[in-house]
Amino acid sequence: LSSTEVDISAVQPGQAIKTVFRKQPVFIRNLTPAEIAAADKVPVDSLRDPQTLEERTVDGKTNWLVTLGVCTHLGCVPLGAAQGEVKGEFGGYFCPCHGSHYDTAGRIRKGPAPANLEVPEFAFLSDTVIKIG
Ligand code: FES
Repeated sequence: LSSTEVDISAVQPGQAIKTVFRKQPVFIRNLTPAEIAAADKVPVDSLRDPQTLEERTVDGKTNWLVTLGVCTHLGCVPLGAAQGEVKGEFGGYFCPCHGSHYDTAGRIRKGPAPANLEVPEFAFLSDTVIKIG
């Protein structure tokens, strides 16, 4: 099966990059401490698709949020990964197609999308290289 390796060394806290895996956009985001804290303070039971940030990230590297850039409503590419794009009401990603708002853990918080942004299978090959798939 194909996998893809991504150099994340240039991604500063608060920044994200987009890549492509199996023809689908992938967002790799280096969360700031404030973004991690914002995700952690949300009661998990209150979520439409209950998951903690920790469950969606790798142990000891919870600042690296890796998700498909595919809205779980009807598949548009959300905004928020590129510099200057709106991030929605919860500071993560915003899908402009029908107004789904995702939080800093990529979890659906408002709008029609039924589920969190999907976390693909990924692993750290080193501190600066991620293998997706
Ligand atoms: Fe994203 Fe509909 S496709 S809100």
